[in-house]
Amino acid sequence: MVSVEISGIKLKNPVLLASGIMDEQGDSMVKAAKNGAGGVVTKSIGKEERNGYKNPVVIEIDTGIINAIGLANPGIDNFKDEIKKVKENGIPVIGSIFGNKDDFTLLAKKMEEYGVDAVELNLSCPHVKGFGSEIGQDPELVEEIINEIKRKVNIPIFAKLTPNITNIVEIAMSASKADALVLINTVKAISIDIYAKRPILSNYVGGYSGPGIKPIGLRAVYDVRKEMDIPIIGVGGINNWKDAVEYILAGAKAVQVGTAIYYYGFSVFRKINEGIEKYMEKEGFNTIDEFSGLAVK
Ligand SMILES: Cc1cc2nc3c(=O)[nH]c(=O)nc-3n(C[C@H](O)[C@H](O)[C@H](O)COP(=O)(O)O)c2cc1C
Repeated sequence: MVSVEISGIKLKNPVLLASGIMDEQGDSMVKAAKNGAGGVVTKSIGKEERNGYKNPVVIEIDTGIINAIGLANPGIDNFKDEIKKVKENGIPVIGSIFGNKDDFTLLAKKMEEYGVDAVELNLSCPHVKGFGSEIGQDPELVEEIINEIKRKVNIPIFAKLTPNITNIVEIAMSASKADALVLINTVKAISIDIYAKRPILSNYVGGYSGPGIKPIGLRAVYDVRKEMDIPIIGVGGINNWKDAVEYILAGAKAVQVGTAIYYYGFSVFRKINEGIEKYMEKEGFNTIDEFSGLAVK
């Protein structure tokens, strides 16, 4: 069976929609699930509406994309109905939030009130000052934020970590009170226009995602799984079922898919799930848990 349970949340399959890709609207999240996603993670939502950066905010490169959207989002007070639409369809939904230290608890409580199944803390956006990586690179701050939310909120808390750090295990340890870890967010990167002779994105630096970052994500999952016994959701460069299986063998219990949706549309969810099922049949695995972490030595 490809169904999995993470921190008490039952997922009919382990392939989820990643935060930030076609998930600002309830309707598109429902569409992802109807095309086979086992659950959805919302766009990261903050306290107030934000427009993000001016164009260009996304650039396609050979091995993926680099984005610096700037956490554009409608603000938490305008997001209730989007969650409602997803929940009405019986789809597991994880509410992603970002903020400064004080915002996180308030946002998590609102998400809980709106009925999400879990909250995912975006501690890792690489291109917005004060809201992302700076928080996620500070183990004490991460621990403080998670402890505070765990005291005030009753649903599971997932911590999404940044790969833009020397030792991901150290930051993962500081997030050990979370109910699951989500590894990884985008990798800090730039791309240069050789004729304009300057970086292409309006914000200069952005977050790299897609096939090129898969080995980086895999290593993060592997290293953390080796040292810690905490559910891990793998994300980064998953394009097909083999990529998903690699993440599971490295220690993930579930995976998220983002950039691949730009390449293949939502049908990628069904294809990845079919591939995982066939692999399990061939290898004689009955559950995801039977092969999660098998590659970790
Ligand atoms: C356009 C875009 C927007 C994103 N926005 C968010 C976001 O709001 N919150 C977040 O936690 N991650 C965000 N991400 C990161 C993805 O959720 C994911 O961690 C990353 O892209 C790696 O997975 P992928 O290679 O499958 O895309 C975004 C990624 C992209 C490409």
